[in-house]
Parts: sequence; structure tokens; C-alpha cells
Amino acid sequence: MTRTIAIAMQKGGVGKTTTTVNLAAALAEMGRRVLAVDLDPQGNLTQHAGLDPDRVSPTIYDALRAEVDGGTSDLPAAIYRTAEGFDLLPSQPELSLVEVALINSLSRERVLAGLLGDVTPAYDYVLIDCNPSLGLLVINALTAADSVLIPIQTEYLAARGALMILSTIETIRRKRLNPHLTVEGILLTMADARATLTRDVQEAVQQQYGRDIRIFTTVVRRSVRFAESAAAGQSLVAYDSRSAGANAYRAIAKELEKN
Ligand SMILES: Nc1ncnc2c1ncn2[C@@H]1O[C@H](COP(=O)(O)OP(=O)(O)OP(=O)(O)O)[C@@H](O)[C@H]1O
Ligand SMILES: [Mg+2]
Repeated sequence: MTRTIAIAMQKGGVGKTTTTVNLAAALAEMGRRVLAVDLDPQGNLTQHAGLDPDRVSPTIYDALRAEVDGGTSDLPAAIYRTAEGFDLLPSQPELSLVEVALINSLSRERVLAGLLGDVTPAYDYVLIDCNPSLGLLVINALTAADSVLIPIQTEYLAARGALMILSTIETIRRKRLNPHLTVEGILLTMADARATLTRDVQEAVQQQYGRDIRIFTTVVRRSVRFAESAAAGQSLVAYDSRSAGANAYRAIAKELEKN
């Protein structure tokens, strides 16, 4: 059974892409067949996995464009094998144009689900990296997914509307776009080095959301190694295999497997 997980959160820079690439690498290391999907026109995941979003072709853009235009799409042609053992469906900047074109297309929320349907059975995990919004691309990801993993920057939690994503998920269920969509869990990222502060935040999240939602036990701490690995076009799991950050994502992959 394939598990399709959208990594989504409306706020920018919370660690969605970092989580996607490192989970993909950690799961691949465990022998799982993984497809990482870059659904963000910024193409950060594409870059992070070692491809150039300004040069790679075809991408998910071509497949979505063909669907929107009523042509025939060839999604498998846009799937690349990375050196880290997972597959990547890259993005390119023009993907933002598709988001606009989607608005007037038939079943506009289900285009991605339709496209992925043919390729997902070949994988144990499909991880979809979303752009920081609650727009139509994200809605497509949530419609195609079985569950949503929500990364949050540890100190951001107190902010108003921090988890607006939760009401979007509720809407997706209620409108029957994807009635069985679940929340995979909340992942605390970029945590302060001070253990006591992290523990306080963890307890607060547990109290506020823990009754209905899994809070991952593993917390990802702040480390400059993440930005270094991104610049090198590798996951941290590959770039510095023994680092604390790499081990954190391995532990999160194990938590995922247990449930
Ligand atoms: N645990 C961490 N410690 C320190 N830096 C991190 C950590 N996780 C991610 N970063 C860095 O923070 C920046 C934002 O992370 P990332 O790109 O994963 O966030 P994002 O949610 O995907 O952003 P966007 O919303 O723009 O897509 C990147 O430069 C990344 O390398
Ligand atoms: Mg990102």
C-alpha cells in the first residue's frame, strides 16, 4: 500500500522542503521505494535533490499543462532517479502559470490526483512538497494525499492562525474532495538548542493539539548543516550522514513507519 503524504504549511520557511528531501533520503536508506514530488514553482526541492529547475525538462509542469490543455500527459517521463536512491518529480518556475490556468479547468482540484494515480502504486511513499500558500496547487496536493505532515517552526506556534492548514484540511474533507484525508502529524522544526525551551513548546503543542493529532516525538533542532546541504544539492542524510540533523530525520522516518 502506497502512502501519499503532503508536506504542507501555509507559512514560508518552516522546513517543508528540508523535511521532504531528508525524509525521502532516510526512507530510501531503509529500503523503501520513494517518490518526492516538487509542487512548488520555486523549485527548492528540485535544487535540493541535485537538479536545476531552470534546466530540467520535462517536469511536473509539462504534465499538468498537458492535462489543463486537454492533451495527453506523460508523467513517467518527468520522473528522475536521484543519486540518493529516491525518485524525483521536479518542478520549474512556470508551474505558477499552471496554478492560474487550473482555475478554469474541469475538476480543478483533482488534476494532480488523476496524474499521480498511475505512478504511485510503484512506490511505498510519495512525498509532496507544497508551496507556502493555501492556493490551488496545495489544494491539489491535499486532494491527492492520504495524509498531511505539518512542519512548524517551534517558536511560531503561539502566532494567531498558526495552523490555518487544519481548517483547509477540514474543508477538503467536508467538500468530499478527499473525505479520508488525515493529519499525519505535526513536526517541530528549527528548535532552539536550549532543551528546556523545546520541552516547554513540545508540552504546549501536546496540550493544544495532541488529543486529536500526533505530535512527532522527534524534534528537529536548528543547524547550519541544513542550509549547507541544500547548497550542495544533497539531503543532509547524504551530505553529512552522521550529523544530528540526519539522525533526526531517520528517527522521524521510523516514527512514520510505526504508524
Ligand atoms: N532544522 C533547521 N535548522 C536550521 N536551518 C534549517 C532547518 N531546516 C531548514 N532550514 C533552512 O531554513 C530555510 C527554509 O527551509 P525550507 O526551505 O525547508 O522551508 P520551506 O517551508 O520549504 O520554505 P518555503 O515555504 O519557502 O517553501 C532553508 O534555508 C533551510 O536550509
Ligand atoms: Mg519549500
